[in-house]
Amino acid sequence: MLELNTAVIQTQPEFGDIGGNVERALAMIPPGCDLAVLPELFATGYQFLSRDEALGLAEDPRSGGPVMSALGATAASTRTTLIAGIAERDGDRVFNSSVLVRPDRSWEIYRKVHLFWNEKEIFDPGDLGFPVFEACGTRIGMMVCFDWIFPEAARTLALAGAEVIAHPANLILPWCPAAMITRSQENRVFTITANRIGSEERDQPALKFIGMSQIVDPLGEIVVRLDSEREGAASAALRVREKDKLITPTNDLWKDRRPDQYDC
Ligand code: ACM
Repeated sequence: MLELNTAVIQTQPEFGDIGGNVERALAMIPPGCDLAVLPELFATGYQFLSRDEALGLAEDPRSGGPVMSALGATAASTRTTLIAGIAERDGDRVFNSSVLVRPDRSWEIYRKVHLFWNEKEIFDPGDLGFPVFEACGTRIGMMVCFDWIFPEAARTLALAGAEVIAHPANLILPWCPAAMITRSQENRVFTITANRIGSEERDQPALKFIGMSQIVDPLGEIVVRLDSEREGAASAALRVREKDKLITPTNDLWKDRRPDQYDC
């Protein structure tokens, strides 16, 4: 069993103020943390007016822009693995991505597969599937915000061996915090949803973000949950039991699956 000190960071970014947003968010990481999860698009804000605007504010992590440099420096100085949502540029494509940055500054990426509402006019849909990465002594998968409503996302990560699912989000719909309890239960994994608060009204519709960032354990218990009003961090020491899928002495979540009977 592994004891993992984790934190979920809830922010209120100012659209376009990349320097200020990054500085405020990274300052919230509690000391002694192995893994901290930050919201979707934590550096830029959410409501891009056009694809060109997103391309202009996005960065290519392969060429080490200011957001990746700050994440790398903070991961190294605090010895914390950081997961954060960024606007990722790759040539003339732009993705709503999540990066995992280890204390040795090595990094991994996931590109949001299920784009929400106007995101379809801004971003390219993710094309890297749902990979699982070794980090801070365990196996971590990432999904971004609206991926929550597709159980296939968390299921794919759990079947690939993820013990922790990190979930940067900018939630608008109210149902996700409850749904993520089910995602944890049905896959027997920890889920860490980092959301933002506040609102953006650069375009129609005006968007209000619901906060309620949370960490849920593999039995579906809420370990910590923030409110809808305040920025801040919530910490939790998680006891990660590898491949623990037994529900009753005769029910193993993986062995009892019946893919021959499913048509999806
Ligand atoms: C969302 O996917 N950001 C709602």
